[in-house]
Amino acid sequence: MIDKKQARMPFVEALEAYAKEHFIPFHTPGHKIGQEAPALLKKWMGPALPYDLGLMYALDDLHEPEGALLEAEQLAAHLYRADKTLFSINGTTGAIQAMLLGTLHEGDEVIIPREAHRSISSSLVLSVARPIYAMGRYDSTYGIPLGTTPEEIEDLLEANPRVKAIVLVHPNYYGIGVDVKGIVAIAHARGIPVLVDEAHGPHLGFSSKLPQSALASGADAVSQSTHKLVGSLTQTSMLHLQGKLLPQRRIVEAYQLLQSTSPNYIFLASLDMARYQLAMEGEALLARTIELADTLRQELKKIPGIRVPDKDDFDVCYSFDRTKVIIDFAELGLQAQKAEALLRKEKIEVELMQGSHVLVLITIGDTKESIEALVQAVSHVAAKFSVSRGQKELAVELPKPLVKKTPRDVFEGDYRVVSLSKAQGLIAAETISYYPPGIPFICRGEEITRDVIDYIHQRQALGYQPNGASDSTLETIRVWKRRDV
Ligand SMILES: Cc1ncc(COP(=O)(O)O)c(C=O)c1O
Repeated sequence: MIDKKQARMPFVEALEAYAKEHFIPFHTPGHKIGQEAPALLKKWMGPALPYDLGLMYALDDLHEPEGALLEAEQLAAHLYRADKTLFSINGTTGAIQAMLLGTLHEGDEVIIPREAHRSISSSLVLSVARPIYAMGRYDSTYGIPLGTTPEEIEDLLEANPRVKAIVLVHPNYYGIGVDVKGIVAIAHARGIPVLVDEAHGPHLGFSSKLPQSALASGADAVSQSTHKLVGSLTQTSMLHLQGKLLPQRRIVEAYQLLQSTSPNYIFLASLDMARYQLAMEGEALLARTIELADTLRQELKKIPGIRVPDKDDFDVCYSFDRTKVIIDFAELGLQAQKAEALLRKEKIEVELMQGSHVLVLITIGDTKESIEALVQAVSHVAAKFSVSRGQKELAVELPKPLVKKTPRDVFEGDYRVVSLSKAQGLIAAETISYYPPGIPFICRGEEITRDVIDYIHQRQALGYQPNGASDSTLETIRVWKRRDV
């Protein structure tokens, strides 16, 4: 049932009312409500330009909201059942940085997923915290990360009793969710907050067929990319807070440090609109999206040589967002780059390519036609190759990380380049992974152990190419050194 309170867009209404006043602008931006905008910008964005305002006291201030913007954030908090919601015009990157910087203090230990997005590692540079890695699991057929478990988190907490927070990614890029509720129970029993990177989950609460959202599972702070999977403009996200475990005031201060003082009001309005759209028709939109994703899965599976894994096809999978569709070309002997190039010729642009699969996102923006076009494109590509079965399983044992310097130490330091054969015992100044499993085998600040070097040799022998290495042959590697002063 639609909540009547949600049937408003307070910030959009305020912006429209302001534009109707036709004030003569003696304030930023310089194009003055579009009057002297570059011709092409006018052509692209004409009717939107009068709303291109930033920091108008008459319209509320993102940093100290008291009026329409506060109301818009409160409606979002109400919809997502959070205690407080902050709009971010610096994406989920800004939201994650605020939740970590606001929670952690210099020297604090924090559990983070080994495959964490760079916004989490950059948060550790900002907060001067020390990572303890949850290595998680990965799938041995598709080579994708399957996330951590309550058992792994419990073991890490036993071994590291000074941990101050736990960061989870839920669901990951591939739609694989972790047992947030189980982990929250373990963490809260010790008074430790759980902070969730839910960049890929702003739609979760709108269908029971999707993994349970982190907020519904009791997480203390959740960062969501509204722009990634629902209706707001690119760069706009939400940070939700709940409960009493977190220093809310400090998180708000960290958030203020990390957001522009001139937030684009169209961006903010798009968050208000996206929240309204979800409140009014989120369930119907998600029901249609899931139906389209299911149809896509069924149709793709009929194409010889194409594999489309469902939840039960992974080694272990706690929960799965079926709107993330992996299209695997391994049985056709096709590498992802090649498959992607062929799909582009068919005018299909995918989200991600890795190993022998591409990932496509089915969202509220898809239609029967877009699904049909994708099925047709994949059949055209597949028809060019013959099917050969008998895929080998991937067996990868990642080296155990030995953290010697924090991400901040490495940021403060310098680096030199050494031959890999002379790198044992030195500290890495780069983060490198092989795909599969796409999980770093060495991160900045960690000792380059014998196991790390052996791992590189093993992967090289199998012909894998590293990601993130400054020297793609890995004959040399960057190692940390103290900055000369
Ligand atoms: C898992 C994950 N977390 C965080 C982010 C950062 O989100 P944003 O692009 O909204 O800053 C991304 C972006 O791709 C992501 O994939």
